[in-house]
Amino acid sequence: MSLTQARHPLRHASPRGLPTGENPYLPVPARVLLQSDLVPGVRLYDLRFVDPGLAERFSWVPGQFVMLSMLGVGEAPFSLPSSPTRRGVFQLAIREAGSLTGHLFRHVKEGDVVGIRGPLGNGFPVEKFYGNDLLLVAGGLGMVPLRGLLQFAIDHRERFGRITLLYGARSPEQVLFRGELTGVERRGDAEIHLAVERGTTEPWGGRVGLVTDLLDAASIQVGRTYAVACGPPIFYKHVLDRLVRMGFSKNQVFLSLERRMECGVGKCGHCSVGYTMTCLHGPVVSLWDALNLPELIYT
Ligand SMILES: Cc1cc2nc3c(=O)[nH]c(=O)nc-3n(C[C@H](O)[C@H](O)[C@H](O)COP(=O)(O)OP(=O)(O)OC[C@H]3O[C@@H](n4cnc5c(N)ncnc54)[C@H](O)[C@@H]3O)c2cc1C
Ligand code: FES
Repeated sequence: MSLTQARHPLRHASPRGLPTGENPYLPVPARVLLQSDLVPGVRLYDLRFVDPGLAERFSWVPGQFVMLSMLGVGEAPFSLPSSPTRRGVFQLAIREAGSLTGHLFRHVKEGDVVGIRGPLGNGFPVEKFYGNDLLLVAGGLGMVPLRGLLQFAIDHRERFGRITLLYGARSPEQVLFRGELTGVERRGDAEIHLAVERGTTEPWGGRVGLVTDLLDAASIQVGRTYAVACGPPIFYKHVLDRLVRMGFSKNQVFLSLERRMECGVGKCGHCSVGYTMTCLHGPVVSLWDALNLPELIYT
């Protein structure tokens, strides 16, 4: 038993899901079927593996990620924002940030082929959530991995109690998957509460404020709820503190982290923090991990 497992019985460190290939370093070709702007600077890509067998077989756990590569450009990790219950095509939601994503935005067209390795990382411990209420708390681009979990929970609606999403963005124009979330709420699949830091001239039916304001207003039965949070470091600072004050214990809260990664399979050490490799033992960690190893979030 590894040190991390020994220290925390709830750890779920083993990578899950079907690998895209035998060799974990070898990217597998996938075709860009569709690309559309979600919000300014963030694009949604629909991809399908060129190998039809792999396209049908490819599966993952919500919260896992893939490495996307382009020859001569580079490789970077991206969360899977769609659910494995919707097979054949998988999606990535990508913000233009630097060299690889800049190239992707400027040069890659529908029909082009990119390289994919994965699925990588541990993903959310979804089996643990079964039979309980689910509270999802997202900030900004943190909505991306949580959208996969939300889709998964809706597709297995009978396995979950009440599902609540609290999502904070900078402005109405920055709310990811807005139309889709409205549909989810209208169908009664989940309760959706949105907050934006600043309103605009655009009509906005949600709250103007912070995602922590939504937490204050939410009526959550803590004893029967698992909370999953994803957002930038400043978001965690406030949201985790609030969840603890609401009475959530350290093994009832999970978060998904972003660290700089290279290999994605626990070999190069680029993503190591203390006793963990965040590509392998993460990106999903429990609040227990985050409190015992604050550098996971704050460096
Ligand atoms: C598990 C995981 C999941 C992720 N999921 C998503 C996702 O779903 N969508 C998404 O858009 N992004 C996601 N990211 C982030 C994404 O991988 C990065 O934005 C990636 O670096 C983009 O590659 P790039 O070459 O375009 O940018 P880079 O050229 O790598 O630059 C990205 C940013 O990092 C800065 N930077 C560059 N080098 C360094 C350095 N050495 N040290 C510190 N900062 C540096 C740059 O200034 C820039 O602001 C995820 C990251 C991880 C680890
Ligand atoms: S990215 Fe290489 S060990 Fe995690």
